[in-house]
Amino acid sequence: MTAFLQIQRLRKTYDDVVAIDQVSLDVRKGEFMTFLGPSGSGKSTTLYIVAGFQEPTEGRVLLDGKPLLSVTPNKRNIGMVFQRYTLFPHLTVGENVAFPLRVRRRPDAEIKAKVEKMLKLVHLSECRDRMPAQLSGGQQQRVAIARALAYDPPVLLMDEPLSALDKKLREEIQLELRRIHQETGVTILYVTHDQEEALRLSDRIAVFNKGRIEQVGTGEELYGNPASRFVASFIGNSNFLPVRVTKNGGGQMNGVFPNGHEIASDAFTPTLAAGDEGTLMIRPEQMRISALQGASGARAASGLPVTVRDITYLGDAMHYAVATPWQQEISIRMPAAHRHDSGITIGAQAFVDWDARDVRLFAQA
Ligand SMILES: Nc1ncnc2c1ncn2[C@@H]1O[C@H](COP(=O)(O)OP(=O)(O)OP(=O)(O)O)[C@@H](O)[C@H]1O
Ligand SMILES: [Mg+2]
Repeated sequence: MTAFLQIQRLRKTYDDVVAIDQVSLDVRKGEFMTFLGPSGSGKSTTLYIVAGFQEPTEGRVLLDGKPLLSVTPNKRNIGMVFQRYTLFPHLTVGENVAFPLRVRRRPDAEIKAKVEKMLKLVHLSECRDRMPAQLSGGQQQRVAIARALAYDPPVLLMDEPLSALDKKLREEIQLELRRIHQETGVTILYVTHDQEEALRLSDRIAVFNKGRIEQVGTGEELYGNPASRFVASFIGNSNFLPVRVTKNGGGQMNGVFPNGHEIASDAFTPTLAAGDEGTLMIRPEQMRISALQGASGARAASGLPVTVRDITYLGDAMHYAVATPWQQEISIRMPAAHRHDSGITIGAQAFVDWDARDVRLFAQA
């Protein structure tokens, strides 16, 4: 099955600034696809090209198999919700939602019914006759969503629509958005730089970095199998340990940490050879801490002696900040149930280890 929305090799330059390059992405019908990435990484530029507000320097976009970029923006039938200030301040809530239907010269009866249906969808039926200034920020954004969906666009584009709201309101509308997405089945392209928001909302996430997409996948795929150090640091927390590779092949990597401690892991990356500097990535919850004992053999090969710097009780988990022999601070997160028998205290020497298969190896960034 071909994708519903196909973004193909988009490039956009402003004089000598390359805003995006080689951006390609297939989006399925009804999918909730999120663009996640730091400021300036090209998320909005990609979205605006799909919306028709900007023209790419190269590349093309297909919607349902048909070229989209030759269609004028107002004929694209694509809904759009921005970060803020999107409602017409001099129109009531109801008239704001009706606006795109009036532009399309729909009959009055149809407009009235549609406005009612849309306001019900965003749970704002009782606010129909109010002015936007009489609504909270979150309510205003819900009206903007209702307006964008009023004419049943096949695609809804949203550029950081919740970033101006406080945390509680943001989480409330995230739930609303999930429900609206499920009820309408609309295909959504959503921009955020908040990883938690991306994980909560998306079917898949495209991670942007410096004008390119570094990886596309479900939250679980990106977390469990990041393609780069950048993706690993952007989704969830990670420890990055510097390692000099001594052997890399046959599904195994051997190396030494800066203090000479030798390790082995199942991590493997074809771009690294003996003598290269690499980075081992291990998630905090994949590390275990125990009282220091003479570790040897396999255990020493996937572990490290450390000094405990801090211990924090987090309810369901314990967090340990520990220093490696080369004075790098790393994080360990363990279920709180392990606490009582550990005998681990601040300032004590301890041993941290992990499973060889839970390690990822990247070229040093
Ligand atoms: N009109 C413009 N003229 C010159 N450079 C621009 C213009 N618009 C965007 N850029 C540059 O293109 C790059 C990508 O910008 P874009 O707005 O797509 O980033 P973004 O990922 O949406 O960032 P943010 O999270 O801050 O909104 C940035 O380096 C930006 O400075
Ligand atoms: Mg942006």
